[in-house]
Amino acid sequence: MKTQVAIIGGGPSGLLLAQLLHTRGIDSVVLERKTKDYVLGRIRAGVLEQGLVNLMEEAGCAERLHAEGIPHDGTVISYGDELFRVDFTEYTGTPVMVYGQTEVTRDLYEAHEKANGKIEFNVEDVVINGADTDTPHLTYKVGGETRRLDCDFVAGCDGFHGVSRQTIPLDVRKEYEKVDPVGWLGILSETPPVNHELIYANSPRGFALCSMRNENLSRYYIQCSLSDKPEDWTDEAFWQELKRRIPADQAAKLVTGPSIEKSIAPLRSFVTEPMRWGRLFLCGDAAHIVPPTGAKGLNTAASDVHYLYNGLCEYYENDRTDGI
Ligand code: APR
Repeated sequence: MKTQVAIIGGGPSGLLLAQLLHTRGIDSVVLERKTKDYVLGRIRAGVLEQGLVNLMEEAGCAERLHAEGIPHDGTVISYGDELFRVDFTEYTGTPVMVYGQTEVTRDLYEAHEKANGKIEFNVEDVVINGADTDTPHLTYKVGGETRRLDCDFVAGCDGFHGVSRQTIPLDVRKEYEKVDPVGWLGILSETPPVNHELIYANSPRGFALCSMRNENLSRYYIQCSLSDKPEDWTDEAFWQELKRRIPADQAAKLVTGPSIEKSIAPLRSFVTEPMRWGRLFLCGDAAHIVPPTGAKGLNTAASDVHYLYNGLCEYYENDRTDGI
């Protein structure tokens, strides 16, 4: 098989790039290790900055986002019972959009299917060959059968555990990592959010965050010990601890309910360079990860996709290589 851009990874980075390229008539094939249901089952962040909203519009995938997303003009930081509000719209000119990453990915998959986009699921043993030549190709297995994909460029959108970054030789690659000595215990519950904007709470008992997905789906986090397991925390214990860390007036109006998801995220920051090696380009979590703290993961991934997409358009449409 032959394509212009081979995309490894069918997460939000890979699918967004595929859809954007499709709008300009640039052919791509996405290779995803898991199934579509698995990818859409992952619960991740949920705050979209304007840059990502613009890209979703350009990709023709922003209809539901505008209908169901909740624009937030600011966010609240609390210390004890004191509240301090940061007004995004006043300082940056644009709000952020509260809309789950899972929904972003779902919308991208739907558009990709409608456009008859090429994607292979359940691929194994992806190997990138000749990334430092003008004729790279991938080999991979599906159901035990080995296949080959020739391409002009490889987009490594395969997340932190992917194969793309590892393909860049060690004498070229530099990696920087910081692991924080705490975890974030997060729950999702079908309850109305405690406040109409997010609250980042600083408390002597540890950090807490009141976030949301929609008006009846809330996401709450509390800082916990790295040795804790999600099953160590009953829902009741979680709600009690959250109430101790947020301002008393917020705690008084917090609506609690059963959790529908509970997990612990390690807080790790990681970045690698270079993000380009020959005809291989890293995008998103493949190149850098940040803790979920500032909801920057998906937004920085979108920024990578933006630059790569524009560079590729210049290459194919204007025969220019300065963008890439
Ligand atoms: N071959 C094919 N696919 C792979 C391989 C591989 N060797 N390794 C990983 N993948 C797939 C994963 O199964 C996953 O679906 O690549 C995809 C990578 O997706 P994400 O991990 O979601 O990364 P990305 O698309 O860059 O999304 C941006 O930033 O901070 C985060 O929460 C944010 O997940 C979001 C990310």
